[in-house]
Amino acid sequence: MTTDIKMLFCVGLACVLTGVGTSAFIGKSHGGGKDDPVLQYVVNNSLREHPVLTKLRLRTLEDRSHRMMVASEQAQFMANLIKLINATKAIEIGMYTGYNALSMALAMPDSGRVVACEVVEQYIAVANTFFQEAGVESKIDVRQKLALITLNELIAAGEAGTYDFVFIDADKSNYDNYYEQSLQLIRKGGIIAIDNVLWSGNVVDPAPTDYTSQALDALNKKLHKDQRIELSMLTVGDGLTIAIKR
Ligand SMILES: C[S@@+](CC[C@H](N)C(=O)[O-])C[C@H]1O[C@@H](n2cnc3c(N)ncnc32)[C@H](O)[C@@H]1O
Ligand SMILES: *[C@@H]1O[C@H](CO)[C@@H](O)[C@H](O)[C@H]1NC(C)=O
Ligand SMILES: *[C@@H]1O[C@H](CO)[C@@H](O)[C@H](O)[C@H]1NC(C)=O
Repeated sequence: MTTDIKMLFCVGLACVLTGVGTSAFIGKSHGGGKDDPVLQYVVNNSLREHPVLTKLRLRTLEDRSHRMMVASEQAQFMANLIKLINATKAIEIGMYTGYNALSMALAMPDSGRVVACEVVEQYIAVANTFFQEAGVESKIDVRQKLALITLNELIAAGEAGTYDFVFIDADKSNYDNYYEQSLQLIRKGGIIAIDNVLWSGNVVDPAPTDYTSQALDALNKKLHKDQRIELSMLTVGDGLTIAIKR
């Protein structure tokens, strides 16, 4: 999905990271940031990974699409946000093999619930194995259909304004729709976390045919002006926006 290829060029004392974009932006600890000593330091000195999350991460690294997996350091940050706001209702939009869904479920009390949107059967099968191993399968409600449909069903079921946390991480062309649906579903003070907002740095100067970068750039610019939310854009993972509903 993302191109993580970056190269370090040094002239005299000055080094620049080039490839896709030119920045100090690092990436994920299992992707483009894998060999970065600062990110290794961060992971070595702050990651507190539940043993089942470790097993799930190692299992997912065997999958050819493993670059889609959320960075463990980012999932831990979001789990801490969940604890900070005492979240008990969360939505995962784009579950893949379930790393972040499991991380959120583990961060919530027994009464906590995660609605997880995913379409691919094989990914759901992997996820379910680990949800059971961690003993949280009853906290995670996997909906195997298009996320737009699941979110509309939640709204139609009268659940608008009741969710504490949403993680948007599915097909990028629908991000704006997911954001608008999430704003309806989230309560005041609830958090919408949006992944891949930097798209390996390509949002800085999207190519004319790079519609994904263009869409993400447009959404970033829309949120900058959006008075319905408080806003932070973090250079964590592939770029993480935190929007807090006012
Ligand atoms: C980047 S991955 C998600 C990674 C995941 N959040 C994690 O914790 O590792 C995106 C996932 O969204 C799923 N997806 C793509 N389009 C979707 C849609 N319209 N509805 C539901 N899921 C979708 C893909 O099958 C893929 O597994
Ligand atoms: C992080 O830990 C690994 C494994 O113990 C080690 O090889 C590496 O040197 C460490 N890196 C840093 C920057 O702490
Ligand atoms: C979260 O719950 C704890 C313990 O019940 C409470 O002390 C704290 O004030 C709550 N925090 C928020 C933001 O509601």
